[in-house]
Amino acid sequence: MRPKSTRVVSGIQPTGNLHLGNYLGAVKQWVAMQDDIQAGGGETMYFIADLHALTQPITPADLRANTIEVTATLVAAGIDPDRSILFNQTRVPAHSELAWLLNNVARVGWLNRMTQFKDKAGKNREGASVGLYDYPVLMAADVLLYNATHVPVGDDQKQHLELARDIAAKFNLDYQTDLFTLPEPLVSTAAPRIMSLRDANAKMSKSNPSEQSRVNLTDSDDVIADKFKKAKTDPDLLPASVDELDGRAEAKNLLAIFAALSDRTPADVLADYAGKGFGAFKPALADLAVAKLGPIRNELTRLLADPSAIDAILEKGAARARDLAAPTLQAAQEAMGLLA
Ligand code: ADP
Ligand code: TRP
Repeated sequence: MRPKSTRVVSGIQPTGNLHLGNYLGAVKQWVAMQDDIQAGGGETMYFIADLHALTQPITPADLRANTIEVTATLVAAGIDPDRSILFNQTRVPAHSELAWLLNNVARVGWLNRMTQFKDKAGKNREGASVGLYDYPVLMAADVLLYNATHVPVGDDQKQHLELARDIAAKFNLDYQTDLFTLPEPLVSTAAPRIMSLRDANAKMSKSNPSEQSRVNLTDSDDVIADKFKKAKTDPDLLPASVDELDGRAEAKNLLAIFAALSDRTPADVLADYAGKGFGAFKPALADLAVAKLGPIRNELTRLLADPSAIDAILEKGAARARDLAAPTLQAAQEAMGLLA
């Protein structure tokens, strides 16, 4: 039941099309881990958090379509369903079952401290769904079910992972067991936080109403190039060192994107462009982005032509996940006195 070595588990919500921020901030790391972790004898499991997506308004048609599209995007970006276990939560009922058990371990006081709930519920807390409030407990179940050792997440999810550790520790203590592994959050320092192309003070996000603010992984080559060429910048030349970019948020963001797309450091990229203006930098960035993202989009388009094949990938991954989940769920049920 307990993994012998590293087991990486992470999830992504199917709340919309993925964009460059999702790719550079999450998906690219998942692909890299698939290689690194498996080279060390570990395992990688990635899932579409469709149950989490229910915590915000979404139509059934959108949820269905997004689940297929996000899965296809992950595959197009390099997640190999033969090497990583790729599935959606709904097909593994043990996620929901364990979440209910853990609901009785987690404390209301702990959930009340979750900043994402406060942000998402906003002023209308009484009108927020119970699912939105309970979301972090489901997230704990997602990782504890598989005894995940490492969980790659964005900064905003770190608090949820700490909660998962608290829940695991309390369960182990209350039921005098060592069933659950305390998962380590992996907040990659290599993963940049990509900002909007229109306003570098806001993060690139699918919830931004401006299409120009983000590059979607479905965008055509022309659209990708156009968005970079029209990205907001300043009239100054690029300096020789990254420190000198302080106060130039837009310039910093474009440099970070260039560096991440080319697997170089920002300092290294600056060495090529010091003394040049954005008239030179932006077309180079547009070409680079088209070269890196174009093939992913082409593969995504090809995969989406056959949604039933994507469905089959999810089902195959889920069958493997169900096998791994079953003993943990059963042990939790036994520990709590639900099974003899
Ligand atoms: P969105 O803000 O577009 O709704 P999500 O919150 O669903 O994105 O994030 C999905 C994953 O992508 C998370 O791992 C998150 O950390 C990462 N991510 C989202 N936006 C960005 C960004 N602008 N830069 C870097 N990573 C991001
Ligand atoms: N809450 C995560 C997000 O919005 C998605 C997620 C759900 C997740 N369950 C998870 C991430 C388990 C890591 C592990 O980005």
